[in-house]
Amino acid sequence: MVRVTVPVPGRSYDVTIGAGLLPTLGDHVPSLPGATTAFVVSDRTVADLHHRTIAGAIEGRGLGTVLLLVPEGEEAKSLQAYGSLLRQLAGREAHRDDVIFALGGGAVGDLAGFVASTYMRGIPFIQIPTTLTSQVDAAIGGKTAVNLPEGKNLVGTFSQPIAVVADVDVLATVNERDFRSGLAEVAKYALALDEDLLATLERDPGPIVRRTATVLEDVIARCVAAKAGIVAEDERDASTRLVLNYGHTLGHALERLDAFGGRTHGEAVALGMVFAAALAEARGLASGLRARTERLLASLGLVPDGELPPVDEVLRCLRLDKKYRDGVRWILLEDVGRPIVVDDVSDTEVAAVLLEMGASA
Ligand code: GLY
Repeated sequence: MVRVTVPVPGRSYDVTIGAGLLPTLGDHVPSLPGATTAFVVSDRTVADLHHRTIAGAIEGRGLGTVLLLVPEGEEAKSLQAYGSLLRQLAGREAHRDDVIFALGGGAVGDLAGFVASTYMRGIPFIQIPTTLTSQVDAAIGGKTAVNLPEGKNLVGTFSQPIAVVADVDVLATVNERDFRSGLAEVAKYALALDEDLLATLERDPGPIVRRTATVLEDVIARCVAAKAGIVAEDERDASTRLVLNYGHTLGHALERLDAFGGRTHGEAVALGMVFAAALAEARGLASGLRARTERLLASLGLVPDGELPPVDEVLRCLRLDKKYRDGVRWILLEDVGRPIVVDDVSDTEVAAVLLEMGASA
């Protein structure tokens, strides 16, 4: 078992990573004086697998449990699901000292965290991530959100959980494609932030691909440690936290243009990292980065598949995603472990790299 602290000033918390943690969940979360009920937010599939175990562990701590089911996947992140959870909490007279457990992947965590951060102006919540993507990334750092028809994550908060418990045993039931999608986030940490992790993966990717528990524990802990330092420094995404979006600028556009490949988040991010490496090379910032990125991704079972959308569609989508006043920000690497934020990339440069990667004009 490994414990990593996320040292956000005034709201520091621990992420516990290891095998066999759910049955002993009560030992890995802070005491909750005043709480009478733990509200467990989950979807049907995950609840069927794990709710009984965690309810037993929570009740062992003297709390009642109530399971609140939400739709599967991204459907959970709607204003309707958000409103429904708030109404159910109010209907059951949840009070400020009660606690929400988010049991599931990134979508459940984002929704449950948003509910917890707004119900009665904020009640405590604990993340119990059950996918690799959420264990290495989504459950850490306090970004909560739901989607609007106009775009993803347009309504949300920065609100830190009081604990995160990542039990690597639960990853045994994650399907192969979703697990590989999580490996794309692992590759992101390795390429952008942790050269030692990159060297480990390059030496022998077999144990992580085979989901060996001790290796999962070590790799997840390294990703969490990398993220923890960044979140503590820049909780609100103003500067250094942006580097966690490596591969995500193009990745998000590809996800929105889903019809062209039906890619998972991780598959889109993997392609986004290949694109970012090619762009860095085209700008003369890095050399050999694209080939190294492609080798790593292939060794993790992430070979880009499906057509790239036409260039003008991608450019339109990138423009729509304007989160920042000054336009699209790209995270590029000067070398592995050396990310920089770049905001002067022209459409012509983006188009040239996309065409070179096989997109149609
Ligand atoms: N997933 C990127 C972040 O938490 O900032």
